[in-house]
Amino acid sequence: MEIISNPTHDEIKKAANALKDGHLVAFPTETVYGLGADATNEKAVSRIYAVKGRPTDHPLIVHISSIKQLEKWAIEIPEYAIKLANKFWPGPMTLILKRSNLAKNFITGGQDNVGLRVPAHPMALELLSNFEKLGGLGIAAPSANKFGLVSPTTSTAVFEELKRNLDKRDLILDGGQSDIGIESTIIDCTDVNPVILRPGAITFELVKFCTKSDVFEYNPKLKIRASGSLEKHYSPKAQVVLDEIALPGDGLIALANFPTPKGVIRLSAPESVEDFAKDLYIAFRLGDYKEIKKIVVLQPKGSGLSVAIIDRLSKAANTSKIIKNNY
Ligand code: TXA
Ligand code: MG
Repeated sequence: MEIISNPTHDEIKKAANALKDGHLVAFPTETVYGLGADATNEKAVSRIYAVKGRPTDHPLIVHISSIKQLEKWAIEIPEYAIKLANKFWPGPMTLILKRSNLAKNFITGGQDNVGLRVPAHPMALELLSNFEKLGGLGIAAPSANKFGLVSPTTSTAVFEELKRNLDKRDLILDGGQSDIGIESTIIDCTDVNPVILRPGAITFELVKFCTKSDVFEYNPKLKIRASGSLEKHYSPKAQVVLDEIALPGDGLIALANFPTPKGVIRLSAPESVEDFAKDLYIAFRLGDYKEIKKIVVLQPKGSGLSVAIIDRLSKAANTSKIIKNNY
């Protein structure tokens, strides 16, 4: 497999052709890097599952180039979903809608709905529009990491994560560090009101303001599959603990105004909540690279983007606990 750094327009076309030919292309989005395949090609999509080591009943998000493609993949789209798509696409938001015949079981994990997103990263959009010029209808792409582990936010992280599993004709497009750094907000739009299944940069408040309707948060008792309803997710090799005192030898992720105690290895010192999200997974990877055993994270407080950060952290910490207790 080849990493293409600073791809030219021709190289992005080449990547679109590779997708059309059934190969995998990892590409940057503003949230995290995705591992893409032609969403109508069952064989190509099955390789995503094999490369990630992901169970096949986990649905994939289909990436499209604009809201115009929405009706190809979804039916019975509620008014509030149209409002959300108009307002936040291209952007870090995935809508779950009732599927059309195009969205086969190998994309939806056998569910009657499909996840759709128009990403905002210019390279992702260029790849999508080239792919559609070749007759492509959508690119299925999960985060480009091994199942249950940390999403990659740089092309190097994708390479390190998947180099042993990708084939010679697969590609990695380098588009710099993902701006947002954590995965898209997932909103279930199959009921009368929107339900946030996975918090992200499109916050509860933004969804409420845009739709002017009641908005519900994910209830783990619901049977619908959503990221993070799994026990193991978003986790580095190190044990992640939250809001504890860091001891010498521990890694530390905390806002910049918190000083690093003596002997503690600072992995990230973001100035803002936005930077906290942007650098979080890089800091996790750095901790693993340094073979740190325990990473202490001082969580940001409040609403907005902090909710999404706290969600990912609690899952990463939960995993650590499971591993610590059971193995
Ligand atoms: O930011 C993102 O969303 C990134 C970039 C690459 O777009 N993608 C991403 O995909 O995070 P993935 O597969 O790693 O996480 C998507 C989550 C999965 O846990 C999946 O179960 C859930 O979304 N999902 C996808 N389609 C769904 C559907 N139809 N119903 C319920 N959950 C769905
Ligand atoms: Mg993922």
